[in-house]
Amino acid sequence: MKTITATRHFLRDDDITPAEQAEILDLAVAMKADRFGHQPLAGPQTVAVVFDKTSTRTRVSFAVGIADLGGVPLIIDSQSSQLGGKESVADTARVLERMVAAIVWRTYSQAGLEEMAAGTTVPVVNALSDDFHPCQLLADLLTIREQRGSLAGQTLTYFGDGANNMSHSYLLACATAGMHVRVAAPADYQPSSRVVDRARAIAGTTGGSVELFTDPRAAATGADVLVTDTWVSMGQEAEKASRQAAFGEYRVDAALMSVAASDAIFLHCLPAYRGYEVTEDVIDGPRSVVWDEAENRLHAQKALLAWLLAKNKTPVE
Ligand code: CP
Ligand code: NVA
Repeated sequence: MKTITATRHFLRDDDITPAEQAEILDLAVAMKADRFGHQPLAGPQTVAVVFDKTSTRTRVSFAVGIADLGGVPLIIDSQSSQLGGKESVADTARVLERMVAAIVWRTYSQAGLEEMAAGTTVPVVNALSDDFHPCQLLADLLTIREQRGSLAGQTLTYFGDGANNMSHSYLLACATAGMHVRVAAPADYQPSSRVVDRARAIAGTTGGSVELFTDPRAAATGADVLVTDTWVSMGQEAEKASRQAAFGEYRVDAALMSVAASDAIFLHCLPAYRGYEVTEDVIDGPRSVVWDEAENRLHAQKALLAWLLAKNKTPVE
């Protein structure tokens, strides 16, 4: 019998089922408790981590995490490689798979990530695209689980640019976790209807729900978790003035926190712009868990890599 291993990738938050998401988060908890006790990259095997956009947390957490797992991180800035103008994604994928155990890529286009995944037998991980930031969501879910004890049934509200990568990832990942996810954004910056429809379909199977708001106060009322993100994502710098004018009402401040649950927590993927999407008293205040959230990038991504490597060793036929 021919053995076929269908490569599993992680390009969007809904590439994993609710049970798989829980499995990865459980593994992250175990890895956090025993940081150097898991060595699936022993050899050492190398993981390529490619950046088309700038990064601090993603770069450091993947580099450190791959080393923790017994492997070698190969950090590639695309400007110093042939990828992009000079060599196609497909050819790059074919070269990398001959040498590395996995490919982690921060880029602009989700279609580019899909092309990389289609062209290689090693797992491809989305380290942020214009459309999704699924690795960040694993860290956020781990943080919420640590703080609140569970995910299912928790209400999370995201404020600001509803059409960006973080908003889309919250919709899909929180629906997968059985959470009630709310997005509060101006009418011109609401999430993609395709992502909303997909999140609603997932929520229908997990007991979660999805609600869209233009009124930030209504969206904050009773929420357990308040989150925001920059108003100007990487690649949108030319729209800075119009975005700063559009999102002022969605700034997370003490007044917004005061209508949330009395024990609500605040998350932000960082980097943060104090005075814009969040006030200093909130992000540096007692309800903020942003530093735990940043650390959890390490543990969550280690679990993701270990899980993908194990899955891709298991024949499906
Ligand atoms: N949150 C996040 O992805 O941070 P970096 O852009 O620094 O990687
Ligand atoms: N939405 C932000 C996230 C940064 C981690 C951006 O894409 O720049």
